[in-house]
Amino acid sequence: MIKLAIDLGSSVTKIYRADTNSGIVLAEPSCVAVSGEDGEIKAIGKEAKNLIGKTAELTKIVYPIYEGVVVDMRLAAAMLTAFLSRIGIKKSALKRAQVLLNIPCGLSGKRFAEYQQLVEDCEIKKVRFVEQPYLSALGAGAVISDTDPIFCLDIGGGVTNAAVISANGIISGISINVGGNNMDANIISKIASNNSLLVGALTAEKIKNEIGSLSVSALGTMVAEGSSTETCQPASSSVQAADLTECIRVYINKIIEYATGVLWQLPAEVAAAVNRNGVYLSGGVMKISHVPQYIGAKLNMRYRVCEEPQFATVLGGGVLLQDRELLNTFAKKDE
Ligand SMILES: Nc1ncnc2c1ncn2[C@@H]1O[C@H](COP(=O)(O)OP(=O)(O)OP(=O)(O)O)[C@@H](O)[C@H]1O
Ligand SMILES: [Mg+2]
Repeated sequence: MIKLAIDLGSSVTKIYRADTNSGIVLAEPSCVAVSGEDGEIKAIGKEAKNLIGKTAELTKIVYPIYEGVVVDMRLAAAMLTAFLSRIGIKKSALKRAQVLLNIPCGLSGKRFAEYQQLVEDCEIKKVRFVEQPYLSALGAGAVISDTDPIFCLDIGGGVTNAAVISANGIISGISINVGGNNMDANIISKIASNNSLLVGALTAEKIKNEIGSLSVSALGTMVAEGSSTETCQPASSSVQAADLTECIRVYINKIIEYATGVLWQLPAEVAAAVNRNGVYLSGGVMKISHVPQYIGAKLNMRYRVCEEPQFATVLGGGVLLQDRELLNTFAKKDE
């Protein structure tokens, strides 16, 4: 039987195939290009992301699952169906597949119903939903027991999940709409004011990922291309990592504030375990230079981050698909 773990991230959709031991079989931008005139789908995933900022006015790029919410059901279903078809899984085969789907932690009933609807629209019959913190913790190599709670923090493109979890459930957790996208937007404003250069969203993301750093001695530089805010002509300018540190730090500080809130008023034994185990860090934002170190220092905690933190959640899904008992422990019960 086909077994898939799917992480419908705000930025990137990831799919893990467990039955063939193939590992991660897809990682594509979670976006769709649609014609503004009739809503016709023009491109999905990589091809759609490549069009950002380059299309004729009438074409819109839509992220149908945004900040953990299914904002456009039709496009979300079309996107997921297309991704599944790209890995060779047609609708007829899906009926018999076992699918595990990541959902944000503490989703309201209405929001959860939208995920259920999405799965139905894609004709997925056998699905288990698992809240994100369990998945990212498992994917980052944590062992989740009844007696030894752990603290995990995942910062993605649109959402941050922070939670203290044990096999009994989420002891304290929060999901907030803060992530790498906010940093990209901040970088666009900063470069406009510092360098009089307007850069597009793709360029800002590239700059953040390539030279962005929270190191006090960030030295990277990069030539950014865009248009001059003064003459509106095509232009380029050299940007310095040190000038962009603040664009990243303000959001990381905000996230740390929320994460600290999650730790407040933990029962004493839970607090002791968290202190002993440290924090499990995941999500693509952990790839930015010195972000994990900065968070560890601010929280005054030992931290662990896996090699490919952007894949921790989907890898955790892979772990659960290989262990029925674990899956029953962590899958949402009221499906
Ligand atoms: N090397 C990298 N690879 C992938 N993403 C990176 C990298 N460096 C930084 N990032 C940033 O990480 C974010 C994407 O992370 P991730 O894939 O964990 O998000 P997501 O799961 O799609 O979204 P969310 O969890 O918020 O719904 C983006 O802001 C991206 O720019
Ligand atoms: Mg994610």
